[in-house]
Amino acid sequence: MSWITVDDYRHPGGWTAADPSARARQYCESLEGGGILFFPAIPFEFPESDRAFLLSQKQSGFRHHKNVSYRPKSNLLRGASNDDPEDTKRLTELMRNYSNQVTRFIDQFLSPYAGQWAIDYASFRPLEEQGRDLPVHKRNDLAHVDAFPSRPTNGGRILRVFTNINPTVNRVWEVTEPFSVIAPKFANDAGLDRFAKDANSPLRPLRRGIAPLVRAVGLPDRSPYDRFMLRFHDWLKENNEFQTSWTKQRLEFPPFSTWLVYTDTVPHAVLSGRFALEQTYIVPVNAMVVPQKSPLKVLESMCGTSLSN
Ligand code: SIN
Ligand code: FE
Repeated sequence: MSWITVDDYRHPGGWTAADPSARARQYCESLEGGGILFFPAIPFEFPESDRAFLLSQKQSGFRHHKNVSYRPKSNLLRGASNDDPEDTKRLTELMRNYSNQVTRFIDQFLSPYAGQWAIDYASFRPLEEQGRDLPVHKRNDLAHVDAFPSRPTNGGRILRVFTNINPTVNRVWEVTEPFSVIAPKFANDAGLDRFAKDANSPLRPLRRGIAPLVRAVGLPDRSPYDRFMLRFHDWLKENNEFQTSWTKQRLEFPPFSTWLVYTDTVPHAVLSGRFALEQTYIVPVNAMVVPQKSPLKVLESMCGTSLSN
C-alpha cells in the first residue's frame, strides 16, 4: 500500500505546489492503484464550533447505536435521535455544510475527476469502533472491500474522504494488498465464475429490458459486477484464511487528519477510534486515470466477460 502525505495543500490557501494539475494526476493514479492520500491537517473548511457540537452529542442519542448518515442530494439525515428537533436541525445543517466543503475541496484537489463523480452519502461516526457487537457481515473490524447493497455502482469506484475529529485519540485501521492482488487469489473461490456465467445468460437482455422498471419502483438495479462485489464483501469477512493470513499493515490516523481512499480497492478494517466524518463519491470507470486497475476491469480480465450493465 502506498501512503502519500500531502502537506503542501492546506485550507485556506490551497496548493503551494508548482504544477498542481500534474500532481493531481499522480494522486489519482496512486489512489486508483490502492494508495492512501493522507493530510495531516483538515484540507477544507470545518469550523471549530461544528466539531465541538459533534463531540457533545450523546452516544445514547443515536438510534440503534448506528452511524449517522446524510444524503446530500435530498438533504436527509438518518440515524440521529429526534428527541431534540433543534439538535437534529443543527446536525442536518452541519452535515450539509461539511458535505459542500469536502466537495469543493475534492473538485479542486482531484481535478482530473472534476464534474464526473456522483456524490453519495456522508456519515458521522460517533461510536467507539473497538468491541462493537455486530453481526459478521456488518463488522468493520474484519477486513473487507466496500460494496453498498442499496446503491449499485455498475463498476463505478467508491472514493471516500475520512476525517478524524477526535481531539485526542487516533483512528486505527488495518489494510492489506489492493484488489488487483487479492482478486487473483480469492475471487474464484468467492464464485466469480458463477457471476460471469450469469452475465452471459440468455436472460440478460430481459434483465436489461426491465431495469428501468426495477429502478422506477426504487429497487437496486444490480449488474453482475455489483452482485459479485456484494458477495466478495461478505465472503472476505467470513473467510478465516483471508482474515488471518493477509499481510496486515496498521495505520494510525491522528486527531484532525484527513485521508482519501478507494475503499472498493483497499481491503480495510477499523480497529478502534470514535468520532469520524466521511463523505463518499462514486467515480465512473471512464473517469479513471488508470482504468485497468479498477475492480471492474480486473475482474473482467480474469473471467473474460463484461460484468457491467
Ligand atoms: C469502513 O468503511 O469499513 C469503516 C471505516 C471507518 O469507519 O473508519
Ligand atoms: Fe468499509
